[in-house]
Amino acid sequence: MWFMRQAGRSLPEYRRVRADVPMLEACARPDMIVEITMQPVRRHGVDAAIYFSDIVVPLKAIGVDLDIKAGVGPVVADPIRDAEGVKRLRDLEPGDVHYVTEAVGELVGELGETPLIGFAGAPFTLASYLIEGGPSKNHERTKALMYGEPELWDELMRRLSAITLEFLRVQIAAGASAVQLFDSWAGALSAEDYRASVLPHSTWIFERLRDADVPRIHFGVGTGELLSLLSEAGADVVGVDWRVPLDKAAQRVQPGTALQGNLDPATLFAPWEVVADRTRDVLSRGAAAEGHVFNLGHGVLPTTDPDVLTRLTHLVHEETER
Ligand code: CP3
Repeated sequence: MWFMRQAGRSLPEYRRVRADVPMLEACARPDMIVEITMQPVRRHGVDAAIYFSDIVVPLKAIGVDLDIKAGVGPVVADPIRDAEGVKRLRDLEPGDVHYVTEAVGELVGELGETPLIGFAGAPFTLASYLIEGGPSKNHERTKALMYGEPELWDELMRRLSAITLEFLRVQIAAGASAVQLFDSWAGALSAEDYRASVLPHSTWIFERLRDADVPRIHFGVGTGELLSLLSEAGADVVGVDWRVPLDKAAQRVQPGTALQGNLDPATLFAPWEVVADRTRDVLSRGAAAEGHVFNLGHGVLPTTDPDVLTRLTHLVHEETER
């Protein structure tokens, strides 16, 4: 078990070390990366660490002018809307993210038996930030490009897929023991559009990671109708949000696929007995899957009481030992 967004804003010790360091500067400093990645492992005793970074870090590393604004998310100065913009996206070289190699190496030493999960943003979710210029509710410009200029869309997705693959390979080469592809906004698409315009690219990434021999997790939000396709892309584990019970999700993925999830992060604000009951429910439904990694259905919310996360970690450990 681990928590998406376990490293971050719910922890006072995180807010302390980040107090006067901008997010993207923190993501490029091995000392900060190591400290922040370790914080939730030390505090909660979760079974895995997630590498502290952000999905836009490899884009910043190839020179895209972007920033992460607190309370907003990634903001791109010059959004990509045409062939000129797409051409500006160059390949990622390992040297562009030397701090990742350094930080992962240090972390693997410090973590000992605890695995480190590496991650990257999936090409669709990255494309949405690049095209919209920031967070978007309706992804209208992204869809306009996807529907209106399918060849340019494919070229953009090919470039982003190569960047994502390289970013994951750097983390694996430095010692990450699993990787998660975050396609957080894939749920904005119909199954038909996902299959035609996104699936081939995410599949390309998973295929090229097969030789690396590390478990590959594929996650998106609002993907109830897409779970079989997320699985078809070739992941070993499919991450499920809280909208689909895991026993149902188990019927939607390919045979042999494990599930990850899926307690609603908002549950952690309810009385403890509710948290405990719902956690037991997630665990019993997860038993229907061919392997279950306990997690929330999306990231830890910033105002979550960290003590509830610790208590929840202990509960999951007790229940699974029983
Ligand atoms: O603990 C972890 O999971 C590791 C770190 C991590 C961060 N971002 C740190 C972060 C991970 C895995 C991500 C991935 C990420 N980033 C995703 C995919 C996961 C998801 O939530 O669906 C997305 C969509 C982003 C883009 C992004 N970056 C958003 C939407 C935000 C939030 C903006 C806000 O302040 O509300 C960020 C910033 C960000 N990424 C923070 C952290 C700890 C907050 C920065 C801060 O402390 O100021």
